[in-house]
Amino acid sequence: MSSSVLIASNRGPVSFAIAEDGSLTMARGAGGLVSGLTEAVKGTDALWICAAISEGDRYAARKAPNGRIDKGGYDITPVRMLDIPPATFDRAYNSVANSTLWYVNHLLYNTSLAPQFDTTFRREWQAYRDYNDAFATALAEEAAPWARVMVQDYHLALTPLMLREQRPDLRIAHFSHTPWAPPEYFSLLPDDVAAEVLTGILGADHAGFLTGRWASAFMDCCEVILGATVDRERRTVRYDKRTTQIGVHPLGVDGEALLARATAPDVESHMAALKDLIGDRKLIVRVDRTELSKNILRGLTAYREFLEKHPEWHGRVVHLAFAYPSRHDLPEYREYTAAVQRCAKEIEDEYATDDWDPIILHVRDDYARSLAAYRLADVLLVNPIRDGMNLVAKEGPILSERCALVLSREAGAAAELGQDSLLVNPFDISGTAAALHEALLLPETERIRRIARLRKASTAMPPRRWFEEQLAALAAR
Ligand code: F6P
Repeated sequence: MSSSVLIASNRGPVSFAIAEDGSLTMARGAGGLVSGLTEAVKGTDALWICAAISEGDRYAARKAPNGRIDKGGYDITPVRMLDIPPATFDRAYNSVANSTLWYVNHLLYNTSLAPQFDTTFRREWQAYRDYNDAFATALAEEAAPWARVMVQDYHLALTPLMLREQRPDLRIAHFSHTPWAPPEYFSLLPDDVAAEVLTGILGADHAGFLTGRWASAFMDCCEVILGATVDRERRTVRYDKRTTQIGVHPLGVDGEALLARATAPDVESHMAALKDLIGDRKLIVRVDRTELSKNILRGLTAYREFLEKHPEWHGRVVHLAFAYPSRHDLPEYREYTAAVQRCAKEIEDEYATDDWDPIILHVRDDYARSLAAYRLADVLLVNPIRDGMNLVAKEGPILSERCALVLSREAGAAAELGQDSLLVNPFDISGTAAALHEALLLPETERIRRIARLRKASTAMPPRRWFEEQLAALAAR
């Protein structure tokens, strides 16, 4: 069996759970990468190789004929799930990808305490290599001669070079859905590890990023850490007798598909319920995974400061915050979720009255309800410490007629949406509180003018075009 277009990512388009009666239930995979790619390859026969993450996934992977999992009724491309040993997966995904590479590229370390690169880390690093090698081996087995292979994200930074060593005929792309750190921060990593990550990605013919800023930071790292030759005008990196083209592909949203989903009956009924709950009060919305980089705690603290400074808004505004659980195998994430819940409770205790809830926090994943909230929002708050793109900032304006966007200047989306947003420094709580106030007061005509431009920018690069552009860049190699 051989495919001419292949995708590799940690998380796949579907996930499985084992029900109480022992049967398998299937759900769509979660997250920005998965939803963008699912949309992009719908109806094609590209083979998607991903890791088995849950127990249900492992079970499905083991009983899959020829490695292809049964897609049930889902309209998705063929999928092969890799049953990587759980201990290897845990070290690669939790310890290296999410606790090291994610931290580096989002500048999340509190450097007085972490990182600590010791023998435990070395064991984890070896597991990360093994995990990347499992992907490279599966891709090498499945790819037709001269096939195009699209490797995704920081989980799979070593795969491009490993794959090239096995199959030099293939055309390989790597895409980073995260920001990229500047060299002085990236070089927190042990020298050999930093070099292995960079040379791993440079094993690709084409290395893609969401914004010019992240692409430049990557090129800077290649130059400073590897001593590679960088041509910034042509966006190329030459290293070890090979040239990698660097691409900037700012992923956007398929506006029509999103509108269709957001007007489905389940969303309409959530809207009716939310309207009852909010009444004629103004609504500030945020929608995030409960992720350290999303800066939810500072966002809530800013809302609290706003209430403190502006008593005239008491009883007239509600903050609806969706903060879905994420990566709860890691203690830092569990603690962060608990801190977010504590902060929301404190705001509630301080300001709530018999007929006013100043804040409603949702920690359960409910996509339909969050779509309903977008549609009703007066203000959308997106204040990450750092973010590759942040598709929430692009989805909100497509669904709302009148929402004002308060946006972190450190989100990749700020490059395209910054002019029509209220930009904030994500660390500046008082500045964010002031921006919330200004956003609430933004005149209707100004909102409508901005929304039109935000929509245009958000839909400029729908997932299918984003993907095809990268395929075309590979075809030209
Ligand atoms: O931001 C990069 C990204 O891959 C997103 O596309 C995705 O939402 C998230 O990280 C993946 O997180 P998880 O650890 O839940 O797979």
